[in-house]
Amino acid sequence: MAEQMSPMRESPVALADFADLARAVLPPEVWDFVAGGSGAETTLAANRRALDQTGVLPRVLCGVPTPPTDARLLGAVHTLPVAVAPMAYQRLLHPDGEVALAAAAGAAGIPYVASTLGSVPIEQVARAGGDVWFQLYWLRDRGLVADLLDRAEAAGCTALMLTVDVPILGRRLRDVRNSFAIPADVVAANLPTGRGSLAHAATPGVSAVAAHTGAVFAPAVSWDDLEWLRERTSVPLVVKGVLDPRDATRAVAVGADAVVVSNHGGRQLDGAPATATALPAVVDAVGDRCEVLLDSGVRGGMDVLRALALGAHGVLVGRPLLWALAAGGRSGAEAALSLLADEFRDALTLAGCADVVAARHLRTTRVE
Ligand SMILES: Cc1cc2nc3c(=O)[nH]c(=O)nc-3n(C[C@H](O)[C@H](O)[C@H](O)COP(=O)(O)O)c2cc1C
Repeated sequence: MAEQMSPMRESPVALADFADLARAVLPPEVWDFVAGGSGAETTLAANRRALDQTGVLPRVLCGVPTPPTDARLLGAVHTLPVAVAPMAYQRLLHPDGEVALAAAAGAAGIPYVASTLGSVPIEQVARAGGDVWFQLYWLRDRGLVADLLDRAEAAGCTALMLTVDVPILGRRLRDVRNSFAIPADVVAANLPTGRGSLAHAATPGVSAVAAHTGAVFAPAVSWDDLEWLRERTSVPLVVKGVLDPRDATRAVAVGADAVVVSNHGGRQLDGAPATATALPAVVDAVGDRCEVLLDSGVRGGMDVLRALALGAHGVLVGRPLLWALAAGGRSGAEAALSLLADEFRDALTLAGCADVVAARHLRTTRVE
């Protein structure tokens, strides 16, 4: 697909600035689909609050020059301890969708996680990106799951991420109020249903996305399925959507290489704790036996530092990169990732860290 180099409307000076730019260009119901959470959006708000309340104690007189920001995730070195979170239907934001965001991530030297519900086929995304991981939603049809795994492997995906926090879709009231349906020209390109999918069937008072996932996703995924996946998969395996340390420990026992402490950006169980609140207990439980990533609410380089200081090895960033995609296609996403890199380098420097590993030894304190 031809890359569309949309000019940026204005020049953001912080990763968070892309939200306003996106809001100005997106249809309101698409803005709501991306920005919204489930229920009363309690968890959505808590994610941000808990990060804001995480104070990091800087070290001084360390005698180190500007620190490198590179980090090892799943055995490979990246330019930042950051990956692009898996997010569905990116052509809702920009005609180039996944191709543009994967290319920007590849150029920035960080992994891009391709969603099962991508609107561009995984093969095309893998060609556009650098290090591309595949995110799996367990489907009712196990044959389809096996096909997706084969396709991801053949496309060269370097890790597999199983999302475990969507037995059903959370009740996203904005989508229900908007009777939101995915426009016909944006399809779930990895699934055979395509344009005939329930995701396009606008029904008053119904989220078509919820109706579609209800029909297609397996509702009762279990530890046995994770074991099956572990046996079938040679690339590193990541379990996304863990909050309870007991589940993190069990994932390690099954052979997960990483867990993502995530509440799906506040889009699933409304009332689940903020990820910054849940993270330390998970880190304590798994020790050095697997990597721990955090997502949900990361909005800038300081949040990456906060997550590391709380014990994470890295973070996934979601919505800000969709907003950058909406604002400027590939060049918008590149600008956002470049700002994020600058913000993170400044945060590391100001905290007196010689490198990313040192950030995991910083202490935190609650800020009111
Ligand atoms: C529009 C949108 C679509 C998403 N689609 C998926 C998906 O297909 N698979 C998945 O595992 N998570 C999905 N997520 C959740 C993200 O991977 C991630 O957990 C969350 O967005 C992180 O929070 P943040 O957006 O506050 O950074 C989606 C999130 C958004 C906002």
